[in-house]
Amino acid sequence: MTFFADTKKLPPDSLLQLITDFRNDPSPDKIDLGVGVYQDEHGKTPIFEAVELAQRRLQADEESKTYLGPLGWPGFADEVRKLVLGNTLEEKLADRFAVLPKPGSSGALKSTGTLVHRLNAAAKIWLPDPTWANHIPIFQSCDLETKPYAYYDNDATSLDREKMYADLEKADAGDVIVVHGACHNPTGEDLSAEDWQYLTNLALEKGIVPFIDIAYQGLGQGFDEDMENVRGLLDVVPEAIICYSFSKNMGLYRERVGAALVLTENTEIAGRVQSNLNEIARRSYSMPPSYGGALAWYVLSDPDLNASWRKELEQMRKRVLSLRGQVTDALSAEFGDNRFQYIKSQNGMFSRLPLAPEQIAQLKSESSIYMAGDGRVNMCGFTPAKIERFTELLVKVAK
Ligand code: LMR
Repeated sequence: MTFFADTKKLPPDSLLQLITDFRNDPSPDKIDLGVGVYQDEHGKTPIFEAVELAQRRLQADEESKTYLGPLGWPGFADEVRKLVLGNTLEEKLADRFAVLPKPGSSGALKSTGTLVHRLNAAAKIWLPDPTWANHIPIFQSCDLETKPYAYYDNDATSLDREKMYADLEKADAGDVIVVHGACHNPTGEDLSAEDWQYLTNLALEKGIVPFIDIAYQGLGQGFDEDMENVRGLLDVVPEAIICYSFSKNMGLYRERVGAALVLTENTEIAGRVQSNLNEIARRSYSMPPSYGGALAWYVLSDPDLNASWRKELEQMRKRVLSLRGQVTDALSAEFGDNRFQYIKSQNGMFSRLPLAPEQIAQLKSESSIYMAGDGRVNMCGFTPAKIERFTELLVKVAK
C-alpha cells in the first residue's frame, strides 16, 4: 500500500466549478450569472485604468524582489485602515488597530478565525443564514463551532428580522457575530441602520465581538455610504474584527489582495494582537504576496489614481443598479405580477431567484444559463438582450 493510495476524491468547490463549466460551454448564447465578478456590457471584467497605471509605476519603481516582511508592501496596511475608517475615525482609532495584509479576504478570514480560536476555543461563530458559501468551511477549518442565525426569508424575499434578533440573543459573551459590511452575498439584502445599532448594543452589553466582512465597498449605495453603518459601529464598540477584500472593488481578483484589521481596546493590546497575526501568517504562508498590495497602495495613496478608481467604481455601481431595474421590469412584465420587485431594492451584485435546484440545473443543461446552486444571480452578467432571453426561459421553467 502506497502513502496516497487511500486518498478520497473530494468534490470540486461548486462556485469555482461554475467558472470552468461556463468557460468550457461552446454555446454562443451562454449567460454567466454565476461567480461574483464584475462584467461590463461586453461580458469582460476590465482592469481599472488606475490599476493599469499603478502596474506601470510599480514596474518603473521596483528595484528588488527581496523579502519585505509581515506587512508586505510598505504603506499598504495604513492605507487600508484609512480607507475603512475614513478621516474622522482614522484620527480617533488608528492606534487601537492591528492590521495585516492578507491573500484576499479569504486569507483574512482564515487568520482571524485562527486568532479567535487561539483566544477562545469555545467561541461560537454566528453566521447569517444564508452566507457566503466559503464562510462556514473556513471557520470550521479553524476548529471553531459555527452557528447560523436567521437572516433572509426566502418566501417573503426580505430580512427575517424578528427571528434574526431572537437568534442573536442566544450568543454568549466571547462569541463572534459575522455580518456583511454591505451588499450581502448571496441575497443582496442588507442590514438597516437600526439593525447595526442593535448589533452595536449587543456588542456593548453582552461582550460579543462583531466581525465584519467587507468585499463590496462602493458597489451598493456608494463609496462612503456603504461604510456608514460599519463606521458607526467601530466608533463605539471596544473590539471588532474586519476582513477587507479588493477583489471586486479594485478588480484585483487574481492578485489576492485583502487585509485583516482588528480593533482592540488600546494601543498596547493592539501591539500584542499584531504580533499574533504576524505569527499566524509566518506559520502558514510566511509573508503576504506584495504585488497586488503594491498596486492597491499606488491607487489608494496617489490622489489622481484614487479619484480615477472611485470614478470608475461609481460607473460600475450605476451599471449594476440600472441592471437591477431592468431585470425587475422585465421579470414583472413577463410574469405579470410584482413578485420580483425586491430585486430593485437590494444591494450590490447579487439577488436570489426563487428556483428549485432542478430548475437551476435545467437552465444550465438546456439553455446554458449559469447561476449559483441556491438561485443567486450576478446582475453584472446581464445585458438587455440577455435579460430578454433569460426572462423568456425563466417563465417556461418556473411554470
Ligand atoms: C462569489 O461569491 O462568487 C465570489 O466571492 C467568488 C468566490 O470566491 O466565491
